[in-house]
Amino acid sequence: MNRPIDITFDSSPKTSAQLAQLWPQLQSEVAQELEGEPLLNEFLLPAVLEHSTFNCALSAILAQKLYCPTLSQLNLRKLCLEIYEADPSIITSAMLDLIAVRQRDPACKRISVPFLYYKGFQGLQLYRIANWLWLNDRRALARYVQSRVSELFAIDIHPAATIGNGILIDHASSIVIGETAVVGNNVSMLHEVTLGGTGKATGDRHPKIASGVLIGAGAKVLGNVFVGEGAKIGAGSVVLNNVLAHCTVAGVPAVPVGRCSGTQPALEMDHSLQQG
Ligand SMILES: CC(C)(COP(=O)(O)OP(=O)(O)OC[C@H]1O[C@@H](n2cnc3c(N)ncnc32)[C@H](O)[C@@H]1OP(=O)(O)O)[C@@H](O)C(=O)NCCC(=O)NCCS
Repeated sequence: MNRPIDITFDSSPKTSAQLAQLWPQLQSEVAQELEGEPLLNEFLLPAVLEHSTFNCALSAILAQKLYCPTLSQLNLRKLCLEIYEADPSIITSAMLDLIAVRQRDPACKRISVPFLYYKGFQGLQLYRIANWLWLNDRRALARYVQSRVSELFAIDIHPAATIGNGILIDHASSIVIGETAVVGNNVSMLHEVTLGGTGKATGDRHPKIASGVLIGAGAKVLGNVFVGEGAKIGAGSVVLNNVLAHCTVAGVPAVPVGRCSGTQPALEMDHSLQQG
């Protein structure tokens, strides 16, 4: 049942076309927002409208959120830009995350909303920065970024965790993802989700979440368990065992309660329970 979790990109022409559209769309939405609310001038210009690329705008908004007396906005912007230049796949992931939020969160009508305002999206992008630093032996700075994100957003993702693309972290308060956790592509999770250890194991001790899994609010997945593709975890569940692909589990401790109707419930945000 356990197999490596694929976090490679979907390079279909449809996805490439969506990615190419993203930056012009973001600029146009933000320009409209400014027209409707000139008081946001000092926020929207330096966050998006003064920039010529998505990379620059993303670096600017992340730096604006994270800076503090001990790490300047300018240094943070430069750091993000350098990392995006060194590994452009991080930008592709960010774009796919943005599209995921727009497509799956019914409250989100425009891609500019998560970009400017959602801590789930922004916290995830800062994890991507910390992860790059970790993998490139700059662990002190990776930990610094992790701890600032945790203070600011209550999102505590270990920089060594592996997370795919097209991820939705909705509401995003109190998210904990441990060091050896793996999260596949197109996973959706709500607030107060823990992908943690049981406290009884060392080494590889965190959950492995395959692609297209939907994790309900408050769910705790504990230990080195494998949650199969397209599975669904009910809100408030404590998952202590492997979960079969396309299976719905719920309860404390979680037990199978049905089969998932869609192949990827995380994409459809399908919370329904189907017996099977
Ligand atoms: C409770 C805990 C300490 C395990 O204790 P344990 O005595 O070793 O328990 P076991 O794993 O042997 O499980 C014993 C039984 O309790 C159940 N169980 C274990 N943890 C449980 C939990 N958190 N909630 C409900 N039931 C739980 C198991 O399903 C098992 O039931 P069974 O005998 O019917 O199969 C551990 O599961 C836990 O919850 N640790 C906290 C981890 C945590 O907070 N991690 C977050 C890190 S960020």
